[in-house]
Amino acid sequence: SSSSQASSDGFLGCLTDNNVPVFTQSSHFFMPLLNASIRNPKFFVNTTVRPLYIVMPTTTPHVQAAVRCGSGNNMSIRVRSGGHDYEGLSYRSVNAGDFALLDLSKLHKVCVDTQAKTAWVDSGATLGELYYKIGNASNMLGFPAGLCPTVGIGGHFSGGGFGMMMRKYGLSIDNIINAELVDAKGRLLNKTTMGEDVFWAIRGGGGGSFGVVVKWQVTLVPVPPSVTVFNVSVSLGQGAVDVVTKWQQVGPTMPRDLSIRVLIKNKRAEFQALFLGTCEALLPVMNKNFPELRFNRSDCREMTWLQSAPYIYLGKDSSVEDLLKRNTSTFFSSHGFKATTDYVREGKPIPRDVWAGIFHKLAQPEARDARVILDPYSGFMSDVPESATPFPHRAGVLYSIQFYNYWPVDRGSGEVQINWIKDIYAFMAPYVSSNPREAYFNCRDLDLGTNWGAKYFMGNYQKLTKAKGEIDPLDYFRNEQSIPLQVNIT
Ligand code: FDA
Repeated sequence: SSSSQASSDGFLGCLTDNNVPVFTQSSHFFMPLLNASIRNPKFFVNTTVRPLYIVMPTTTPHVQAAVRCGSGNNMSIRVRSGGHDYEGLSYRSVNAGDFALLDLSKLHKVCVDTQAKTAWVDSGATLGELYYKIGNASNMLGFPAGLCPTVGIGGHFSGGGFGMMMRKYGLSIDNIINAELVDAKGRLLNKTTMGEDVFWAIRGGGGGSFGVVVKWQVTLVPVPPSVTVFNVSVSLGQGAVDVVTKWQQVGPTMPRDLSIRVLIKNKRAEFQALFLGTCEALLPVMNKNFPELRFNRSDCREMTWLQSAPYIYLGKDSSVEDLLKRNTSTFFSSHGFKATTDYVREGKPIPRDVWAGIFHKLAQPEARDARVILDPYSGFMSDVPESATPFPHRAGVLYSIQFYNYWPVDRGSGEVQINWIKDIYAFMAPYVSSNPREAYFNCRDLDLGTNWGAKYFMGNYQKLTKAKGEIDPLDYFRNEQSIPLQVNIT
């Protein structure tokens, strides 16, 4: 319509007046820029609703101008840091409508202060860049965040951020001490000027609802100069069902220095661990608590904390330099996925015969590339009150369980693989948390239904709507699952 033409002309003119780098759909840079961080390749297709413009700020004032130009000209924006949103909401809209993509990937500075044991990290940096900069500044400091090095700081910190050190140091959000936020009017706010509710909300209340966080200040955590990692694989024939059943007791009750996650795929369970100590100290802990794994000295790999990051996620042949790469493996760049999260709570471990049923479902042909990931909670996680941050899955959670299924995008839209996920989600209902059936915001799922707010945030949802009203009363920062201004709790 002519009004949408006027708003898009006004937006473009405003950006140009402010020297903000912008690409229109006719630019031959447009598609490469758009695709550069689409991390769920199912959105490579032509039916994906694309942005009208891609805005590529290289300074904070560019971000402020872009937001001011957008809100002033009635042009919505989607903010993208690393592009890992499971549903692609950082660069696409489910329904048709004009919007611009504000891509922060050129803002990726990391400044480490080893004296103060803090760092400032831009939202457009990746987890890998953060780990690399910290590890190179000191072999005694680390930071608790996720496993996949290409994940963006912006979305990850907004939604929580869990990884191999959460049992010792909690989530990324538990270690954030300041942030710079651009609000809908283009103002640059810090911890003090944004106000308590908003500073609470941006640490776990999910990206895309409150403004654009351009950078974050974090406290770094102590790590020993040498840590121990292992990856022990148990096949079905070797008793994977029994070992996984037993893991439910030990994973969440091990000493905090030890996290053992489980990756189940191809009829095998891989037990991947990080221990903040030596192999010598780990051996008796494993023998006493988890003899079923038949762990021994030859399974230990001692290395720096920095080296453990690529080793655990990218495999034994990777190097710390791989943490800086933004491209992913051929498999991940050619396979679309659908995923769900669930939480298993205390007193309700999943019975052995149900695990047998899960392995059985994993053996179905449509689950050829499916995987299940179990991450142990408890420890530090149980010390944090549910209302301390918007992330509510704290005391009482034994572990989280994620189901993924993948398909090659050049061979259809994954209907059977998606149905497999829906089937196993229904199958799991009796064995996981209920009322609400909890889910992790950072594993965004548009199939959670209208009750998604309670599932992601539980009792914290109401306070998030209050913070939303304080910082963005006109609901400029909006997407299919952004925090609304008001909510009727039923
Ligand atoms: P992306 O740029 O797609 O943004 C996600 C959401 O946040 C969008 O709504 C976006 O608009 C908004 N947003 C982005 N930047 C913002 C900013 N600066 N200010 C405000 N809003 C912003 N999680 C985890 O906890 N532990 C893990 O180990 C992993 N591992 C993992 C592996 C893989 C392969 C994937 C695809 C994902 C994960 N995740 C994860 C989940 C990950 O934490 C989640 O997808 C994050 O939101 C990704 O952040 P990005 O910046 O990459 O996403």
